[in-house]
Amino acid sequence: MVPVTVTPIEGWNPDQYERFAAERRQPFDDLRALCAPVPGGKVVDLGCGTGNLTVELHQDMQAATTVGVDSSEAMLERAQADHGDEPGVSFVCGDIATWLGEGLDLVFANASLHWVDDHLNLLARMRTALGTGGQLAFQVPANFRHPSHVLARQVANEAPFFEALDEDVPQDRGRFVLSPEIYADLLYELGARKQVVRMEVYGHELSSTADVVEWVMGTLLTPYRTRLSPELFGAFVERYRELLLEELGDREPYFYGFRRILCWARFN
Ligand SMILES: C[S@@+](CC[C@H](N)C(=O)[O-])C[C@H]1O[C@@H](n2cnc3c(N)ncnc32)[C@H](O)[C@@H]1O
Repeated sequence: MVPVTVTPIEGWNPDQYERFAAERRQPFDDLRALCAPVPGGKVVDLGCGTGNLTVELHQDMQAATTVGVDSSEAMLERAQADHGDEPGVSFVCGDIATWLGEGLDLVFANASLHWVDDHLNLLARMRTALGTGGQLAFQVPANFRHPSHVLARQVANEAPFFEALDEDVPQDRGRFVLSPEIYADLLYELGARKQVVRMEVYGHELSSTADVVEWVMGTLLTPYRTRLSPELFGAFVERYRELLLEELGDREPYFYGFRRILCWARFN
């Protein structure tokens, strides 16, 4: 498959993203638990977002330095404002798709790599950023066949949104995410001495089906917010809500089962 070049997306809204902070942190906690502390070591957190979890990672790993990398100015501003004076932690603007590092003890990426294509080369680059005994840990969503994801693309293909998007619907990020067994193979081929790869379904009890709309507005719908006018984005969300409630039923509470892949590896 020919890799697609993807321009990092602006339009991230830290407040919207943090609305489900408790649910979103569950896979982070599980991924972090797979990592061994690196006392006095160097850590990078790719796609660090608001930096809340970067700081926790830094402290738990007992690292000397942790650099949070993100391409969103809004997310970085929030990270800098809330955590800019945390000793050992810094935040920089960068694109995961071109990021390079060296001599690191841990390269960590929670819920960010699916925004970038070509995971084969991405993982190889992340591996070369590690020093001896370094660890690689990432978590990617694998929920792209759930109606919450499928319906966004359906609406994007309807008028007037399709025309407003210049007949170029945002990339289906599900095409970027590989299967757990392929990640396991890749890590092995890259020389992982030990690895853990697993698929997990996180069950979230949301107050109602409509909350799914709020959830995806913090992530999946970000490219639509960027590319549509505020009025059209509002209309897009309304149409999406209508189809979603039709498909899932208007339930209170609503159980949102969310598949994710967690990968951890250590290299010589
Ligand atoms: C779903 S948030 C996850 C944030 C954080 N890791 C967490 O677990 O709370 C995804 C983050 O990845 C960032 N991101 C998306 N594409 C990126 C890219 N190409 N380069 C750097 N950051 C990117 C977004 O700006 C966003 O802050």
